[in-house]
Amino acid sequence: MLSFCQIFAGHRMKFVHLSDLHFTTTAEEYPALRPGLVNALGKVFDDVAKIEKHLDFVSITGDLAERGNIESYEGLKKLLNAMSIPVFIVPGNHDNRDDLRRVFASAYYFTSNDPMDYQVDFGRVQVLGVDTVIEGKPSGRISDDQLSWLRSMLLHDYTDHTVVSMHHPPFPTGHAEFDEMAEVEGAEELGELIRRSKSKVVVLSGHVHRPYQTVWHGANCYIAGGPSFQMGSSFCFGDSRLQVVEEPFAYFIHAIDSQGTHSVGTRYVSLDVGEPRTERQKAVGQ
Ligand SMILES: [Fe+2]
Repeated sequence: MLSFCQIFAGHRMKFVHLSDLHFTTTAEEYPALRPGLVNALGKVFDDVAKIEKHLDFVSITGDLAERGNIESYEGLKKLLNAMSIPVFIVPGNHDNRDDLRRVFASAYYFTSNDPMDYQVDFGRVQVLGVDTVIEGKPSGRISDDQLSWLRSMLLHDYTDHTVVSMHHPPFPTGHAEFDEMAEVEGAEELGELIRRSKSKVVVLSGHVHRPYQTVWHGANCYIAGGPSFQMGSSFCFGDSRLQVVEEPFAYFIHAIDSQGTHSVGTRYVSLDVGEPRTERQKAVGQ
């Protein structure tokens, strides 16, 4: 049997994608959140720390805290300190940009202006963060200024691969309730840029609290599951209303090799902490 190292040997870039941590020390006050949330998040980061020597970075696509404030981010920072590789963050609709900067500015790359977009080069691979948050709203937006920045990032020819991280998925999931929550102004314009790009594009998102994969305008697209809680219906493409579901948690590990192959592995983490949710708690949405 091949070991993890052998499987990923020769890859140009390897990274983990996480999202929607919703950190809070008072999870029990918020019915949808997993009881024992801090312990659960600790288990996730401990698991990533076990494999971090094989990774180039971790991408977290927003909703780092349930209520974005200094206290929550300070608490989360203690868990993130379990890892020593770069962590790239974009905000989600639960986050507060100013407090994110105050707590994480010394540890992570953030621009001083809104939106909190970023660009990092790893040789012939570039990593872009797109801040899609509209303050006070659950839906998202890519502004005209961001689209012109993305045009310059996606339509040049000096990268082979581009990883785009953004909280709100710009692609449809096939589930009407997810797609309503994830509405993103400017998504079709981004899709057109991706279609025209010579770079092979990977899109990482969160927001809908369910692991999901699709191909959209030629890009491989992923939504990370939510360690804070996961949503589901009785059929993954939506034959019933969404509710919080009890199911195993897993996260994706991505590897891009020098031949252009993009491989994705799944790593399961047992988060069996705290008491099971009541039926009332399960019925609470995002
Ligand atoms: Fe979320």
